[in-house]
Amino acid sequence: MAQVVLKDLVKTYGSVYAAKDVSLTVNDGEFVALVGPSGCGKTTTLNLVAGLIPITSGDIVIGDRIVNDLDPKDRDIAMVFQNYALYPQKSVFQNLAFPLQMRKLAKEEIERKVLDAAKVLDITHLLERKPRELSGGQQQRVALGRALVRDPAVFLMDEPLSNLDAKLRVQMRSEIKRFHQDLNATIIYVTHDQLEAVTMADKMAVMNGGLLQQYDSPANVFANPVNMFVASFVGSPAMSLVPLEVANQDGRTVLKSPEGWSLPLSDANARKAATLTSRKVVLGARHSTIKLHKGQVEGAVPAKVYTVEPTGDITFVQAFLSSSIVNISLPPSVQVAPDEMVWLEFDQDRIHLFDGETEMALRAS
Ligand SMILES: Nc1ncnc2c1ncn2[C@@H]1O[C@H](COP(=O)(O)OP(=O)(O)OP(=O)(O)O)[C@@H](O)[C@H]1O
Ligand SMILES: [Mg+2]
Repeated sequence: MAQVVLKDLVKTYGSVYAAKDVSLTVNDGEFVALVGPSGCGKTTTLNLVAGLIPITSGDIVIGDRIVNDLDPKDRDIAMVFQNYALYPQKSVFQNLAFPLQMRKLAKEEIERKVLDAAKVLDITHLLERKPRELSGGQQQRVALGRALVRDPAVFLMDEPLSNLDAKLRVQMRSEIKRFHQDLNATIIYVTHDQLEAVTMADKMAVMNGGLLQQYDSPANVFANPVNMFVASFVGSPAMSLVPLEVANQDGRTVLKSPEGWSLPLSDANARKAATLTSRKVVLGARHSTIKLHKGQVEGAVPAKVYTVEPTGDITFVQAFLSSSIVNISLPPSVQVAPDEMVWLEFDQDRIHLFDGETEMALRAS
């Protein structure tokens, strides 16, 4: 396997930047998920690495070679796409063998590689079948197998699970993770599903508008999102974001709402607020860190319940706080009703503060 380095990678289509100065290093054996909303440049970035489209500027290094000008077939990569396009007339064995025959390998070597890959993916018993005689998940495994037999330096996968139903997707998610662990493979995996990324990847690269927003382990991205975009993209339900103003009240820094309530900040949060570029601040909190009270409590702020969604072991509540919707999770034993007034208590050690002008996370200076 090999490492992959992207240096100031740029791809433009006319005046549109599909990828803008993307720089990142995928270490040897690492599983990196490229995530972001539709049109943010994920497929473009992957296709640049694959060599399927020419780069506008920048460098791509695979292993110890700059591959900018190499054909896809010379880059030592294998791709798995969303529509995995198996050859319908060929058996599973022939589907796996085909890329090796193209490379003119000896018959015995082809057979050995196909059988090895089939074993890893648990499809040995399916080798004589045609693709139409397989389930979606089995077809997906054959598509993985076809990449695997080529023994590439890097696997590139573009939404390989998005054609599968929800249950199969969860199952294949663990299988691809297992595939990665067993092979120690270097994998770049594109998905718009942040949950897929969080559960499978060693690192996630969050993109928006062609720009790499954050590149870190899923846990760090979740705990310390660098800006409001990343904060709202990663995590489900999304982190609630409430635009407020910062003010000084009796010598304390507080968050003030237009409705008149104020929330005193802890010393650590007040130090973060001191770095604001204006009075505008955005309070961010994840559902599990907000406590809901049915009566007024010191330090809690008033909100009005909007929707209540029991899911069995957790009830999700949406409430209006100032003019924003806030997500809260509750044990099912707590009963609340739409339009009820409630009080929300924020865990000051776990709230996020963002600059209302720049949308960047505030850090203590
Ligand atoms: N051949 C092309 N010509 C012009 N614009 C393109 C072309 N391919 C992609 N784009 C534009 O580049 C941007 C990035 O597209 P890309 O396909 O990389 O997005 P994506 O993140 O993979 O989205 P999705 O999740 O929908 O697959 C989009 O604005 C898209 O419209
Ligand atoms: Mg895409």
